[in-house]
Amino acid sequence: MISLVQHPLIRHKLALVRNKDTGTKEFRETVNEIAGLMAYEITRDIPLKEIMVETPLAPCMSHELKKQIILIPVLRAGLGMVDGITSLIPTAKVGHIGLYRDHDSLQPMHYYAKYPGRLANAVVMILDPMLATGGSASEAISSLKKAGAVSIKLVCIVGAPEGVEKIEKDHPDTDIYLAALDEGLNDKGYIIPGLGDAGDRLFGTK
Ligand code: PRP
Ligand code: URA
Repeated sequence: MISLVQHPLIRHKLALVRNKDTGTKEFRETVNEIAGLMAYEITRDIPLKEIMVETPLAPCMSHELKKQIILIPVLRAGLGMVDGITSLIPTAKVGHIGLYRDHDSLQPMHYYAKYPGRLANAVVMILDPMLATGGSASEAISSLKKAGAVSIKLVCIVGAPEGVEKIEKDHPDTDIYLAALDEGLNDKGYIIPGLGDAGDRLFGTK
C-alpha cells in the first residue's frame, strides 16, 4: 500500500527543501519538521491500550501506545528525520542501518546494522528522505525482516515511481509513505525534480 501524506504544511515545507537556494541549516530543520508531520499522520492507526491514571481529583481511564515504535534511519540521510519524530514520540527506540549506493551500479552497499531487540512486536518505521531506484529501501526491509521485524512502514519524503514499483514487487506487505511522488529518475539515478542529494544537503558535504 502506498500513501501520499500531503497535509498543506508538508507541501509548504517541501517547497523549501526542494529549493536549491535553501542552505544546510534550514534544509536540516525542515526535513525534521516534515518527518514529524508525516509521523503524526502515519501513526493515526497505531493501537492503544487502556491505562488508569489518577488526576489530582479522580481516577481517569486513559490510553498509552500499545506497541513499541522503532525508528530505523538509513545512514546517512535518514538521520535527518529522527529528531523530528522522537520529539513527538520520545519513547521510540532507534536502530541504524548503513547503506550507500554504488555510484556506477546504483546497487546498495550494506556496511552497518544495529537494531533494538523485540522487533517482532514493534511498529518499525524505516526512515530515508529519498526512494529512488528502491534498492536501498528494499535491502533495508529485507535486513529488518531477517532480524524479525513484521510490521514495517517505509517513510520517505520524495519517491520515484521506479522505487515504489520495486518495493511493491519485493515487499508487498510493507506500507510506503511519501510526501511526494515525483516524475522519475535521471541517468544517474537521481529523482527528477527531487531535491538533489539529500545526504550532501543535510550534512553540507558538497
Ligand atoms: C541516498 C538516499 C537513499 C538512497 C536512495 O543515499 O538517502 O538511501 O540514496 O537511492 P536508491 O533508492 O536508488 O537506493 P546515498 O547512497 O546517497 O548515501 P548517503 O545517504 O550516505 O549519502
Ligand atoms: N539519493 C538522493 O539523495 N537523491 C536522489 O535524488 C536519489 C538518491
